[in-house]
Amino acid sequence: MAPQISPSILSADFARLAEDVALIADAADWVHVDVMDNHFVPNLTLGLPVVEALLKHSALPLDCHLMIEDPDRWAPRYAEAGAGSVTIHAEAAKAPIRTLRTIRAAGARAGLGVNPATPVDGLEDLLGEIDMLLLMTVEPGFGGQKFLDVVLPKIRRARALIKDRDLPVWLQVDGGVSAETIERCAEAGADVFVAGSAVYGADDPAEAVRALRAQAAA
Ligand code: DX5
Ligand code: ZN
Repeated sequence: MAPQISPSILSADFARLAEDVALIADAADWVHVDVMDNHFVPNLTLGLPVVEALLKHSALPLDCHLMIEDPDRWAPRYAEAGAGSVTIHAEAAKAPIRTLRTIRAAGARAGLGVNPATPVDGLEDLLGEIDMLLLMTVEPGFGGQKFLDVVLPKIRRARALIKDRDLPVWLQVDGGVSAETIERCAEAGADVFVAGSAVYGADDPAEAVRALRAQAAA
């Protein structure tokens, strides 16, 4: 699959979300929305009301990344609201199969996220239940952190597991993805790239998105 870029609005201006999303609307594939509850991660961002509001102002589909303690309860609500993709964390979900199926039944793509220290071996049986596997390449909670090279072998391993089963599962990397690190991620097998500070910290966010995609495709 051609590489896709999902800019994270965690690095945008929270008081001007619609304008900041419009900045990348012609360049990006998705808008990555980081939902944090101050329990699963030590930070608090936004929730369903803001996502519902943003849906009315975004030309791009929303890629909702739920870093919350109770995704089984909340993920279906994001899918029903109209999110294009909803990712729950393997470390938090108590009934992942049921929740992933509910997300899909509501018409959204279902994602499963794993933290840097969580292995993908053991999750093989869930690959048929998902449309995307999200590998965190920083500890979740904050933008602007340094990419963790230690995750690279896991990207390769995940790509091999997906390929062995011949499944159409996208492989997303999230955290520290930039001009310096995106080629390593693509080479290891990632095909969807979240970038927060590398996009919204740039003078021209749309140009930054295009440059990242070109690097990932090279
Ligand atoms: C971190 C979030 C990321 C974050 C990435 O927990 O899941 O999506 O916005 O930010 P950068 O690209 O700056 O590392
Ligand atoms: Zn994220």
